Amino acid sequence: MRDHFEIRDADAAGRIGSLSVPRAGVTVETPALLPVINPNVITIEPRRLESEFGAEILITNSYIIRNTEDVKEQALDVGLHELLGFNGAIMTDSGSFQLAEYGDINVTTEEIIEFQRSIGSDIGTPVDIPTPPDVARGQAEDELAVTKQALRDAEAMDVGEMLINAPVQGSTYPDLREEAGGFAAATDLDVFPVGAVVPLMNSYRYAEMVDAVAAAKRGLAVDCPVHLFGAGHPMMLALAVALGCDLFDSAAYALYARDGRYLTVDGTEHIDTLEYLPCSCPICSEHSVSELQSVGDTKQEQLLAEHNLHVTFEEIDRIKSAIRQGNLLELVERRARSHPAMWDGYKALLDHTEQLEREDPVSKGTFFYTSSDAARRPEVTRHHERLDRLSVPARVLLTEGGTPSETEYDAVWAVKPPFGPYPKELSDSYPLTAEVPERPDRSAQVAAAAGIKRLVELNPETAFTLAHNGWTPDALDAVPETVTRESLQAVQADR
Ligand code: GUN
Ligand code: ZN
Repeated sequence: MRDHFEIRDADAAGRIGSLSVPRAGVTVETPALLPVINPNVITIEPRRLESEFGAEILITNSYIIRNTEDVKEQALDVGLHELLGFNGAIMTDSGSFQLAEYGDINVTTEEIIEFQRSIGSDIGTPVDIPTPPDVARGQAEDELAVTKQALRDAEAMDVGEMLINAPVQGSTYPDLREEAGGFAAATDLDVFPVGAVVPLMNSYRYAEMVDAVAAAKRGLAVDCPVHLFGAGHPMMLALAVALGCDLFDSAAYALYARDGRYLTVDGTEHIDTLEYLPCSCPICSEHSVSELQSVGDTKQEQLLAEHNLHVTFEEIDRIKSAIRQGNLLELVERRARSHPAMWDGYKALLDHTEQLEREDPVSKGTFFYTSSDAARRPEVTRHHERLDRLSVPARVLLTEGGTPSETEYDAVWAVKPPFGPYPKELSDSYPLTAEVPERPDRSAQVAAAAGIKRLVELNPETAFTLAHNGWTPDALDAVPETVTRESLQAVQADR
């Protein structure tokens, strides 16, 4: 039981939670965005992150601080909170990312965790190895063994109230990710970052990012707060939250600004290519696009960083609102439309629909069917699973609309693609209150047919008739042969 993380609401595997950070004396609401602060290159002052952007937590790099003599002295002297001017929670990274980049960082987990404690960090990080994607299995295994030892070393330390991250590695091997998640969750460490996903995201490999996170989540316990290391592009946050990630860190807001790039929830645009500003944050309200293009490099970087961070925080609020309203997957679906690689990510998410189903609340806001992918959502799978709870008489008509012929039935059930069959008494119950199009597409019909198939298998003695509105041949093929079919369109034509 992890008593510092409380889940208050959920949708798919996403959740709204509170993370208590005792050393900072604060509680952070999740999903949370941690702006990355490089103490040597501060783009937006931490006190402004708190007052203007609402940041409750930020992340900085203890390795960079330790290697910058004057900053190190100050940090040891007055502590990180005073050094940065930030009253919220401060997480520190260990230099593992530099390790991945430069090969050797010459610091042990004990040394860097002790340093993090001594500068007043609220959440410290051991020296994990961010194994990149696609390495040989042997390398992924060997490096995971080193990461596990780093977690053990961190666990053995006395760090007072400081929380400690337990990074989950394993490269692109789902079984290693799952094992790493299980190992991390069995320690008494506190926060669980999924590591080394930056290379996947930088090359738009969102489907593999989804598989890596889903595997790590299978190993972790539901009540583990999960951080997605290095993820902060607003386009992918909803997808990551739906998988069950709670914390994100964004260096993107500052790094992209340096290159003149303007973030939106649909992707990234170079400021020079824009003719209009599709945003009403304070920066975009107070400046015209031509001002932003011509203010000069330093000022432009500053303004773009602020815009980028506003859009990112706004997306976090939109995600929380979607979780409250029970329409997070509809939001993920909208974001999936912004880039084919994001769409692949959404499809990969739905490959894990049974995993999502285990955490998805049994009742929430109305289900909206707005794309054929929604036929694979966990709510549909769950309806099919629960057909075994219904009692079914000897002769049942399953109908999308009217009654096709004079034959007698013991019961008339409704059929609503993508859910399939259900007794009419359930039509006011979630999820059958779903808003679905009047012209169901092939995927919805095929999913409904899968529901019928399950019902038939559960009730081999029952004689079923299906009255459908002209289903496609492959949907009809998926309906068991023992089911009598009647087309309601033929019935209408006869009248
Ligand atoms: N920042 C981005 N990815 C990683 C990671 O895998 N480990 C650590 N410690 N920091 C990171
Ligand atoms: Zn803006």
